[in-house]
Amino acid sequence: MVVEEPPFLNIDGVATRLLEDRERPYGTVEAGVPLVLEPKGARSVVELKAFLAARSAEVMAAVYRHGAILFRGFEVSSERDFEETMRSIRGLRPMNGYFMSERGRDLVDEASSVLYTNKYARLGANPFGSVKIGGFHSENYFSADVPALQAFWCKTAPWMGAETAMVHMANAYDELSGDLRAKLEAEPFCSMFWSVPMIARRYRLPEDRVEQFFRDLGLLVVLVDGRKEIVFYKPNVYRHPHVPKRSLQVNLSMSLRDLDPALRRLFTPAYEGGKWALYRAAWRQWDTMTAFRLAVKGRRAELGSLVKVTGQRLLGAQPRGRAPAESTLVAPPGTPPIVRIGARVTRDEVGALAAAVRKHCSLFSWRRGDILFFDNLQMLHAAMPGVGPRVIRVMIFNPLPLKYPLTSGLTDVAPEEGYRSIDERLRALQRTLS
Ligand SMILES: [Fe+2]
Repeated sequence: MVVEEPPFLNIDGVATRLLEDRERPYGTVEAGVPLVLEPKGARSVVELKAFLAARSAEVMAAVYRHGAILFRGFEVSSERDFEETMRSIRGLRPMNGYFMSERGRDLVDEASSVLYTNKYARLGANPFGSVKIGGFHSENYFSADVPALQAFWCKTAPWMGAETAMVHMANAYDELSGDLRAKLEAEPFCSMFWSVPMIARRYRLPEDRVEQFFRDLGLLVVLVDGRKEIVFYKPNVYRHPHVPKRSLQVNLSMSLRDLDPALRRLFTPAYEGGKWALYRAAWRQWDTMTAFRLAVKGRRAELGSLVKVTGQRLLGAQPRGRAPAESTLVAPPGTPPIVRIGARVTRDEVGALAAAVRKHCSLFSWRRGDILFFDNLQMLHAAMPGVGPRVIRVMIFNPLPLKYPLTSGLTDVAPEEGYRSIDERLRALQRTLS
């Protein structure tokens, strides 16, 4: 792959380069993912912030061109350093939350916009081995609030593996068959049903106000087993606002049940060899070992939370939420069938998607203090298997102004400076009523 020289190489005390082989566990066709930005001299956060503030336009152009940038070698040593570094990039608007965030996706105490990956469950590496390869996703496919951009900060580096996989899905998309691309672009798919009572409890709002809020947005309200639920549709393919590319941005692993098994077969050759042998043995026994360890220590609450949050991953990819066919669903007359992506994509097409994900997957070994800044409109990500006390913190930025009702599987997302997330608007509504 030909990678353009970035325009800001060797300026203002900062240099950019591509990753070296020794910084990766194994190779990739995506040599330009991520672009590395590192100090030539001063390594302090003060210098980094000054550079980012002065060169925000070039940094944003680089993240769009490469898909991801790795800030490496700077002294980013706290959550506050991470937050202040990202806030110094002009045009980034951190999101302090998002609609119906999962349990454990809380703000850390040390900063105002930095999130735990999960406060209760370790989703990446752990000392007894990790979950299986899988979990490739675009951020917040199941939420109404999709961030355009995202950043991870490595507080504690793992001992072995446990990388954050970056998949350049915009490059992979070009290689999918014309039939599959046409199918994905033809119609939006349902990503999630959210129950009105559940939303009302979360945002402390009357149910009728919640229902009206989503009707006003243009979303469909149905009855599922006698309970009102909002049907969330998502575009499958985004036409990027800053680069001439399209990308399939879906939580593929949770939506296509055959994807992760296919990916495991494709990734397995990279996990042969001595240092992975013991790990692979433990990996096969992961469920048993985890349950045994928590039971021995009497950590019942943690076990319960772990099962709840990671249950679907432990059991393999399953479509999230109830499938309408398994419930009694009553929709307004004339409503077209409510379809998820898994109902339209064939098994062969899932195999082609797995091959594209594997081919365009790019890994690097985390170092303490690294910041990975990436484009959620072009990249998928996943936590890879590994060992060690890995601690990663998260920031998400710039909620996408999706317009409902969606009429196509392909969407153009025009940036909106003043756009407020659904989460923000529901919180604001709650304040006006209290
Ligand atoms: Fe994620």
